[in-house]
Amino acid sequence: MTGAEAGAAAGSGAGPGSGPGSGRGAARTAGVRTAVAPYAPPARTGRAESVRALAARALSARALPGFARPRAAHTSTAALRDLRERHGGAPVLVRGPSGPVLVILDPQDMRRFYAEPAGVLAPDPCAPGGERRRLGAEVLAAGTPVHPSHGPFLAALAEEARPLTATGTLRIATARRAVARAGRRIVLGDAAAGDEELAGWLRRLRGEGDAMGPRPTRARAVRAVQERATARIARYAAHAEPHTLAGLARRAAAGPDDLAGQAYRWLRAMDTVPATLLRTLLLLGAHPGEQEAAGAEARAGGGGPGELPRLRACVRETLRLYPVVPDLIRVTRAATEWRGVRYPAGTSVLLPALFHQRDPEHVPAAHAFVPCRWSDRGADRDIRMAPFGHGAGRCPGDQLGLLVTAALCAEVLRGHRVTGTRPVLDPLGPLPATLDPQGIRLTLTRR
Ligand code: HEM
Repeated sequence: MTGAEAGAAAGSGAGPGSGPGSGRGAARTAGVRTAVAPYAPPARTGRAESVRALAARALSARALPGFARPRAAHTSTAALRDLRERHGGAPVLVRGPSGPVLVILDPQDMRRFYAEPAGVLAPDPCAPGGERRRLGAEVLAAGTPVHPSHGPFLAALAEEARPLTATGTLRIATARRAVARAGRRIVLGDAAAGDEELAGWLRRLRGEGDAMGPRPTRARAVRAVQERATARIARYAAHAEPHTLAGLARRAAAGPDDLAGQAYRWLRAMDTVPATLLRTLLLLGAHPGEQEAAGAEARAGGGGPGELPRLRACVRETLRLYPVVPDLIRVTRAATEWRGVRYPAGTSVLLPALFHQRDPEHVPAAHAFVPCRWSDRGADRDIRMAPFGHGAGRCPGDQLGLLVTAALCAEVLRGHRVTGTRPVLDPLGPLPATLDPQGIRLTLTRR
């Protein structure tokens, strides 16, 4: 079934059996009814539209290097809950912009989503695969809590964090500048720290990347900027200090194109940090007990260098509530069967991670800031919570991301308290569905 056909099915209320790859035999099963029913009932069009919009946003983001933009969480959550109730938790096929998308609504199917190998459920087709992914994981020291280059990384973070506390008010623009400088030092070395031209190109690419469907002229302009940025990155990478990510990749025998391509992705990945940094500090500002404990850890050093277990738990909890990648996407490489319904190779499968992480039916105190839930052994592997994903597609930079974000929080909290916040959060009530980093303003007072 083509996307257009799926759309027609959606509009016409097509019945069971119209899902892609559904055999006629299967069409008579309850599973198929479940899978295609969301196309049907006209009374639910608003909700169905909402889920389609979710699929559209997630898929358009997948086609781009880097990370998805947070979606309108509240709309999608209501729509997804509604779908789950109506279809008994079975995966539901909805119409996306380039074809149908299978939405995972139940923990049972979530487990399978994470467990399938990349040969069956492939991550982002633009993401490096096979050997390149292995090299990326090695350079990022995936799974190692403290990166082997933590010494120079923490020194760079401490220096670049100074502007965060310089004026007594912290906003996203300052955080972005500080993180971008630190990120260039970590990825490409000190020579790249002040390269504002490169920073501008990357900003432009991020802006373009967030737009829906580039038109041909825009695509040409984007390509030109991308080429300039990649050439500049390649120059830095060729001479980067051995402890940097580019230096480590060189030592691991990455070819020049690979090196520039991966370094570009790592720089983009660092973009996830500023918003999470601000949200974590905002949440700590609203939870004074947690803030005091986190501040004490920052002053004491918290385990070994870069470990900061309490602050890392706060960052993880922030990411559970406000994930930087709210929807995970895979594409099936082979025909798959979900609850008795067959779907052909090439079917997009969407796991709405934000919805599941805040699902009160499965996550206790789902809308509250409870960092200690991350101190449980095994919390990191609990599939209900997936700020970094799980299984073969899991973020290879998870520990580095935690190290960087927790270290920056520590730099702020070591000598300062967050004494005022905008927006004001109610620590007793459910936390808001979204927190736009542009609207966050933190007042810092010296200890
Ligand atoms: C706190 C910060 C971060 C968060 C929340 C985060 C989260 C994620 C998530 C959810 C995914 C997709 C997983 C999936 O599809 O199942 C991902 C992929 C990835 N992340 Fe991270 N990440 C962070 C930091 C980093 C850092 C610092 C790096 C590297 C410097 C990095 C490199 C990657 C790479 C290479 C991928 C594979 C997909 C791609 O290339 O686009 N991440 N990350």
